[in-house]
This record gives sequence, C-alpha cells and structure tokens, in this order.
Amino acid sequence: MRTQIVAGNWKMNNDLMQTQALITDLKKQTQSSNAEVMIATTYTNLYSAFEALKLTNIEVVAQNMHFAKNGAYTGEISAGMLKSIGIETVILGHSERRAQFGETDALLAEKVNAALENNMRIIFCFGEELNDRKTDNHFNVVEGQIKNGLFHLPESAWNSIVLAYEPVWAIGTGETASPDQAQEIHKFIRETLENKYGVDVANSVSILYGGSVKPNNAKEIFSKPDVDGGLIGGAALNAIDFYAIVNAF
Ligand code: PGA
Repeated sequence: MRTQIVAGNWKMNNDLMQTQALITDLKKQTQSSNAEVMIATTYTNLYSAFEALKLTNIEVVAQNMHFAKNGAYTGEISAGMLKSIGIETVILGHSERRAQFGETDALLAEKVNAALENNMRIIFCFGEELNDRKTDNHFNVVEGQIKNGLFHLPESAWNSIVLAYEPVWAIGTGETASPDQAQEIHKFIRETLENKYGVDVANSVSILYGGSVKPNNAKEIFSKPDVDGGLIGGAALNAIDFYAIVNAF
C-alpha cells in the first residue's frame, strides 16, 4: 500500500514566535493518524521547528533548496546545510517558485539530482495553469513537467520521490479541482510513470493533490484511488483545520 501523506506548506508565513505558537497548537492535536504528516516552514524556522517536533510524528521539511554544494550563491541554501540540521525532505518545483522565481524544468532537474545525492526525499510539484486547462492542454503540460524534471532518474530513485499535482488555478484561490478531476489526472500521472518505469514503480509512488484543500473537501478528494494525500497551503496555518484534513484519511 502506498504511503498517505498530508504536508502543510506554510510558505513565507510566520516568524519565529508565530511558528512556535503554531507548533504548540499542532502538538495539542491528536498525534496518531493514518497519514504521514509534514510541515514545511521557512529557512529561519527550520531548526527550531525540527527541534520542537523531533519527538512527534510530524516531519519538518524545507520549501526549497539550491542545487550546488556550496559557493558563491548569495542568499541560497544547499541540501547539505538542510541535512546538517536534520531536514530529510524538500519540496521542489512549487508553482510559486516556477512562476515568481523563474525555476525551469532544467533547473529543477538539477535540484532533484542534488537532493538525491544528499539522500533527501523530494516532494516534486507540478501543475497546469488555468489557460492550459481551458484549452485542454493540461495533460501535456503535466506530462512535460514530470518528464523534464524527473525522467532522467533511474528506477531506484523513485523510492525517494513524492509527486504533488497542484493546478495553479486552484492554489490559494478557494477553487479546487473536483475530486473527479483530481482522480482523472492522478490516474494519468500514474499511467505516465508506468509507461516509463513499469507498474511496480507507478503503484508505489505517492501522488498528492494540492490546491485549496480544506477540512470540508479533503475527505472526498482523498477518497479517490489515485490520490494519496495533500499538500496544504492556507488551511495548514491553523492547527485545527490542518488536523481535520490529516484525519480525513
Ligand atoms: P492552498 O496552497 O492550499 O492555499 O491552495 C496549496 C499549495 O500551494 O501547496
């Protein structure tokens, strides 16, 4: 059975005090869940969040990293630096990174390689824009992002990859893909994996849905056979809402 995962992406929200308060709230929620639980906080909060949550089943993950080991990359953070404070998982290719920071498929492939060289797990995000969906081009876009970012990898690397389908038009907009739309594309993603790597890899990779997942729609989305969890933005900033989503499994 595939791992079910609910990951909260806090984005550029919460300073140190606010992060500590949210973690205190999270710890009050039930700690036993059927899904793996992760939270992605900003660089400045990673170490304290890691320390505060290390005896719980909530994993602290990074929202981004650079591909180089070290060097003249002012303002950047390497995989080795994340590992040195205990961080084992990184989100790569979030649509905000792609759209606002010019991250291309080729750059993301380099980041993927660097994360894997450092034995990190990756939550690899991709998804179409509204116009792609309107013109029925979403399957092509998604397939291209997966192929260009990940299909250079050997089969063995897929143990360390989680996919997150996040239609850009649903992120932070209050609009979600319907459960059937999510299932349709998650199934397509699994078939795309199967064509390249075979059925065992395709059936073992967790594919998360992201885009305005809330307590009132999580259960229906997660009930779809090819949806293995969620990447949660806005609703992850409130511990009660976040755990209502975690407990939707
Ligand atoms: P949202 O964000 O839940 O606020 O739509 C999802 C994401 O960006 O991962």
